[in-house]
Amino acid sequence: MRIDIITVLPELLKSPFEASILKRAIEAGLVEVHFHNLRDYTSDRYKSIDDTQFGGGAGMVMMVEPIDKCISALKSERDYDEIIYMTPDGETLKQGIANQISLKENIIILCGHYKGVDQRVRDQFITREISIGDYVLSGGELGAAVLCDAVIRLIPGVLGNETSALTDSFQDGLLAPPIYTKPRDYKGWKVPELLFSGNFPEIEKWREEQAYLRTKERRPDLLDEN
Ligand code: ADE
Repeated sequence: MRIDIITVLPELLKSPFEASILKRAIEAGLVEVHFHNLRDYTSDRYKSIDDTQFGGGAGMVMMVEPIDKCISALKSERDYDEIIYMTPDGETLKQGIANQISLKENIIILCGHYKGVDQRVRDQFITREISIGDYVLSGGELGAAVLCDAVIRLIPGVLGNETSALTDSFQDGLLAPPIYTKPRDYKGWKVPELLFSGNFPEIEKWREEQAYLRTKERRPDLLDEN
């Protein structure tokens, strides 16, 4: 998979890709991530990427020209399956969206700033608009980092244990059950006995029940969705 990220603040975005699982995925050649600074596609001496809104109103708008130049340059090199715009008025990111995007070959992610981008960018280029939640960030970069993390860990081979993404919360529409590790007894705080029984069908049943109970208590909305 190849991800091209268009941003005015590449330095804000880079560190998540330089550590841990994302770094390993890149080093293993399972994903390529490229950053494109929008200011490199400007044509005036001030490298302007934004201007005031037509019709009046507070806040700057990202101009169509630098974004057009950048996206068009990328599209002339290869085909893209999805051109995503990070914006608080997009569809809210869910595990299902991350699953879909993880199957794509080439994607572009455009990070918005200020009031957002000129509507013509959205009309002409964008195939999908994604929000990471109902709050406003100062730019799309942190949202793009969240999206990339959620997507990249789903690419086969990225996680050490191939099954571990399958047992994540949300993968089956439920939250994950409680988990335990050594020691068996810590200060009298005990691990449920069943987990030592060796009875794997019973353990699996217990985990499913726990996942259901946890979901019912914390996120009943997830149960309504199915
Ligand atoms: N840009 C600003 N706020 C955002 C959000 N909630 N999700 C994605 N991109 C954003």
